[in-house]
Amino acid sequence: MDTVGLQSRRIVSAMRPTGQLHLGNYHGVLKHWIKLQHKHDCFFFVADWHALTTHYDDSQVIEESVWEMVIDWIATGIEPSAATLFLQSKIPEHAELHLLLSMITPVSWLERVPSYKEQQEKLKQKDLSTYGFLGYPLLQSADVLIYNAGQVPVGEDQVAHVELTRDIARRFNHIYGREKGFEEKAVEAVTKMGKKNAKMYTDLRHAYQQQGDAEALATARALLESQQNLALGDTERLFAYLEGDGKIIIPEPQVLLTPMAKIPGLDGQKMSKSYGNTISLRDSDKTIAEKINKMSTVPLSLHPAESNEPSMCPVCQLYALYARHDQEQEAEVACGTTGNRCWERKDALIELIRAELKPIRERAEELSEYPEDVRRIVDEGNEAAREVARDTLDEVRSAMGLGYK
Ligand code: TRP
Repeated sequence: MDTVGLQSRRIVSAMRPTGQLHLGNYHGVLKHWIKLQHKHDCFFFVADWHALTTHYDDSQVIEESVWEMVIDWIATGIEPSAATLFLQSKIPEHAELHLLLSMITPVSWLERVPSYKEQQEKLKQKDLSTYGFLGYPLLQSADVLIYNAGQVPVGEDQVAHVELTRDIARRFNHIYGREKGFEEKAVEAVTKMGKKNAKMYTDLRHAYQQQGDAEALATARALLESQQNLALGDTERLFAYLEGDGKIIIPEPQVLLTPMAKIPGLDGQKMSKSYGNTISLRDSDKTIAEKINKMSTVPLSLHPAESNEPSMCPVCQLYALYARHDQEQEAEVACGTTGNRCWERKDALIELIRAELKPIRERAEELSEYPEDVRRIVDEGNEAAREVARDTLDEVRSAMGLGYK
């Protein structure tokens, strides 16, 4: 089992297989994942159950997108040897944890998650008054907690889901983490660290508990990690004692906000499948040119509250993104607001996007020729993920009184 200290380095994130991945997914999420994969123990998965909550009546798209999604991940630079890649529905432990957590989740907590009402409004043509859709963020909590994730890289729109995950973990620990004589055992464990370390631990714990000093918490955790002569039970107790008065069975993860989450789409709104304004990672050179050539250079009239942003036309907005990558001064990408300069940028933009997508498309085509290799990668990921998930679930079952064999 992981200690809380090790757990904090694990990262869990996912994408819903509801269609082709596009530039927005690439610049927003995937590039972030690619950066994280070598620094952390990353678990990335295809959230097909989550896709089903909104696409239960047209689930064919899920089936079509699952493998293409994994192919796109690898084609853009996610390395199966660095990150664990898997498929949510192949890890039934997520579902069991979801069920168990549902026992302690007040319905009102789910109803007040902003995305619940927002998505129902946005996807009016679908009936989302289902039990499954209400449970969407709780399933996400199970996804994260089953791996003891320390951080969850997500965009702004998912922050409330991670907050819920933290609330659920806290509630779980509060209800099931009461170990008889916890405090006495913890105090005794402190003395086992030796005088100097015990004093340091106690001071750091006070600094965190009384002043909320997060650095003190981090230092204390590092101190615990370096203690080799403590029994695992004592180490876990001391990690828990730092933060509260009970055992931490499932640790609370943190949000790791995806930088640059908003990529402008063809119409200047955020690039998103639901707006139909995307450039897909698999678009051909011809399609890329057609899409860019059709773009308007009239700036979106901005809402007054947002008008701090320079009002660039969609072409310049997208161009600015690429210019930024080329280290060019962003200031140089001043928008001519419907003047010639915007139109003239289209050719350069087409070339930049083509050059970016060509190697990705080629690699994806290559991978598509060997579907059994992609399956094997996912099978191996499923195996590795299940092993971790089983351990957590065993702990959760025991804590809830279902530990009998
Ligand atoms: N809800 C997330 C999204 O739409 C996808 C997701 C499912 C997820 N489970 C997750 C993200 C767990 C992070 C962690 O983007």
